[in-house]
Amino acid sequence: MAKQRQRSRSSSRRRKQQQQDKTTNRIMCGAGTIAILGIGGFLVWKYALGSPTNVEEFKDGVSDAGDYARRKWDELDLGNFTDVLDGLDGISFGDLFQEDPSYGDGETTSWDRKYVKPGNGGLHLTLQNALDETWQRPFELAVADWNESPALTLTTQRVAVDHTCTPVSGVMVVCNANFGETGWVGINENSILGGYIVESVSKMNEFYLRNANAAHRRFTMCHEIGHGLGLPHTDENPYNRNLGDCLDYTDDPEENLYPGEVNFDKVAELYLTRRFLRTKEDGTLVETTVRYVRDELKPEHMGLEL
Ligand SMILES: *[C@@H]1O[C@H](CO)[C@@H](O)[C@H](O)[C@H]1NC(C)=O
Ligand SMILES: [Zn+2]
Repeated sequence: MAKQRQRSRSSSRRRKQQQQDKTTNRIMCGAGTIAILGIGGFLVWKYALGSPTNVEEFKDGVSDAGDYARRKWDELDLGNFTDVLDGLDGISFGDLFQEDPSYGDGETTSWDRKYVKPGNGGLHLTLQNALDETWQRPFELAVADWNESPALTLTTQRVAVDHTCTPVSGVMVVCNANFGETGWVGINENSILGGYIVESVSKMNEFYLRNANAAHRRFTMCHEIGHGLGLPHTDENPYNRNLGDCLDYTDDPEENLYPGEVNFDKVAELYLTRRFLRTKEDGTLVETTVRYVRDELKPEHMGLEL
């Protein structure tokens, strides 16, 4: 137990550092990808496009072949589910959060205010469903669960399956692909501009989840969408008592399948105004603070002015 704590403390420090390095990492990844594409593009050009006769042809060949190679590369690797685990039996699910980039970051981040409806309407967000057939049910359940929050109006839009998980401005893209043995079952990447989220991608890693049970899949879906809404973890020790919400790390996902009240409070803090002013008949100004937990507590249901 002590050993466990020790380890999580030092990994927390490491995680903090990783957090700070995140932007850099991304840029490095980008450069790495371009380098790989460059080589891929060249090979395709050399063997598929014939020899160029001048520099312009050469450049055209490389860029076309680069695009082609990138699409092929991504599709082949990310959409290939041959090399995935048979399931998570015998594997400690709780250990699969070690590489979660949100680890140790207790911050909430709001979506750009243009997606927050005036008049206390909360966050209105489109989730683009780029998932394959096997994910439709967990996705549908997770979206319905999050939509229980009065602070959220989530709309889904089914699009072509996209294992490359290409971000789209102003929406949350949800996708599945075989990202390999990365140490994470799911990952959410929010692009932040001026302190606000402007686009988000939630990725389900099929290396672990393709043959995992419904609870593992539903928990991961709920968890990543939660990050995509701007929420942090509720608890980061997978081996303590489960709190009953999907932003609590767990070794037993069946106990943490849905968002919990603590998560709903956080989204309400982010996207709903909590204080209401009302003038009584005698002219006194009354201030009311509302905790949004259930739909019937929405201000309009309480007869409060917005
Ligand atoms: C999928 O991956 C396996 C194992 O890595 C490989 O043998 C196979 O050729 C790949 N399939 C495709 C269509 O690329
Ligand atoms: Zn997480």
